[in-house]
Amino acid sequence: MANHIGERVRLTVFGQSHAPAIGAVIEGLPPGLRVDWDGVQSWLDRRAPGRNALSTSRREADIPRVLSGLNASGETCGAPLAVMIENTDARSSDYNSIIENRVPRPGHADYPAWAKYGAAHDPRGGGMFSGRLTAPLVIAGAVAAQVLSRDHGVATGVRIAECAGIGDRPRKVDPVDRAILAKLAGQAFPVLDDSVGERMRSAILEASAARDSVGGVVEAYAVGVPPGWGEPMFGGLENRIAQVVFGVPAVRGIAFGAGDGSGFAAAGLRGSGHNDAFYLDDDGRVRTRTNRHGGILGGISTGMPIVFEAAFKPTPTIGIRQDTVELNRNAPATLNGSGRHDPCVAQRAAPVVEAALAFALLDASLVGKY
Ligand SMILES: Cc1cc2nc3c(=O)[nH]c(=O)nc-3n(C[C@H](O)[C@H](O)[C@H](O)COP(=O)(O)O)c2cc1C
Repeated sequence: MANHIGERVRLTVFGQSHAPAIGAVIEGLPPGLRVDWDGVQSWLDRRAPGRNALSTSRREADIPRVLSGLNASGETCGAPLAVMIENTDARSSDYNSIIENRVPRPGHADYPAWAKYGAAHDPRGGGMFSGRLTAPLVIAGAVAAQVLSRDHGVATGVRIAECAGIGDRPRKVDPVDRAILAKLAGQAFPVLDDSVGERMRSAILEASAARDSVGGVVEAYAVGVPPGWGEPMFGGLENRIAQVVFGVPAVRGIAFGAGDGSGFAAAGLRGSGHNDAFYLDDDGRVRTRTNRHGGILGGISTGMPIVFEAAFKPTPTIGIRQDTVELNRNAPATLNGSGRHDPCVAQRAAPVVEAALAFALLDASLVGKY
C-alpha cells in the first residue's frame, strides 16, 4: 500500500535517495495525451536541489526519462507511463558513521525505520524517506495539471505563506483568482509580498549559517474546479488531497479554507461569521461572497477556489550537537548532523504540494458521478 495512491489515476513511486534511480509509474491517464515535457521539466526545476543557497548543495539534473506509456507519436497509449530520474550526485560516505554505529538522527525516520526493517534499512540520504522521492510525485502532478487545464480549465498555484515564523501578506488570501496564480507562477520563491519574501530568505540563510533549520507553511490553490467533484465521508476531496499531501515528508498538518475562517481558526468563529453567503453571478452561476469553506463542502467541490495550507516542520538534519543513541551498543550518544541538507523544507516543497493537489484533483475528477 505504501508507495501507491489514487483510485482512477494510480501513481506508484519507487526509489531511494542513493539508489541508481527514482521514478513514477502512472496508470489511468487519458489516452492520446501529448505530454508537454518542457512543462514537466519546469515543475521539476522548481523542486530540484542545488539551484540556490536556500537548498541543499546536492546537485541533480532531475531529467525525466520515459520508459513506457507513449506510442510512436509520443502520445499516451494506455500502457502505464513509467518515468525514471537518475540519481547522479549521491555522496553516501556522509552516512558512514550513522550506518556503522546505527545512530538515528533526531527528527528523521532513521530510528523507526531501523525498528521496522532492522539492519537492512538504507538510511543513505534518507533512503526511501528522502525528500528526493517527491520528484516522481512532481512528475505525476505536472502531467495531471496539464490534463486538468486541457479538459476543465483548472489552474493550480502555490505560495510560501509563512517561513521561519514570518508571514506573507495578506496572511490569508480570499478571494483567490487567476491573477494571483499568474503572479505566483514562475517565481522561484513564490510569495505575494516580495519584501516579506526577502525577509524569509534572510531567515533561512541565517538559520543555515547557524547550522540549524526552519519550518514553514505552504498555501495551495485550484481555480476552475466545477461543483460536484468528490464524495461524502471517506471519499471527500479533503480526504483525497490530504492523503497525497501527507505522503510528502515533513508535513505536520493541513488545514482547508481561505481568509479568516481557514482551518482551526474556524473553531473560534460563530456560524454567522463562518458561513459563506451564496449569490448568483452575472452568468447565473452559484458563488459564495467569501470562501472560508475553501471550495469544499461535504467533501464535494462547490465551484469556489480550493484553498488549503500545509505546515512543514524544520528540516531534521542539523549541524548542531544533539543527544541520540547508538543502537549497536544500546548506549547514549551525541550527533552533529553532517552532509548536504535543505535549511528549509517548505520552500523546496512548494511545487510538491501543488503537484499533490493536481494529482488528487485529476483522480477525483474521474471518480464516479454518484
Ligand atoms: C523537498 C524535501 C526536501 C527535504 N530535505 C531534507 C534534508 O535535506 N534533510 C533532512 O534531514 N530532511 C529533509 N526532508 C525531510 C525528511 O525527508 C523527513 O523529515 C523525514 O523523512 C521524516 O519524515 P517526517 O518528517 O514526515 O516524519 C525533506 C523533505 C522534503 C519534502
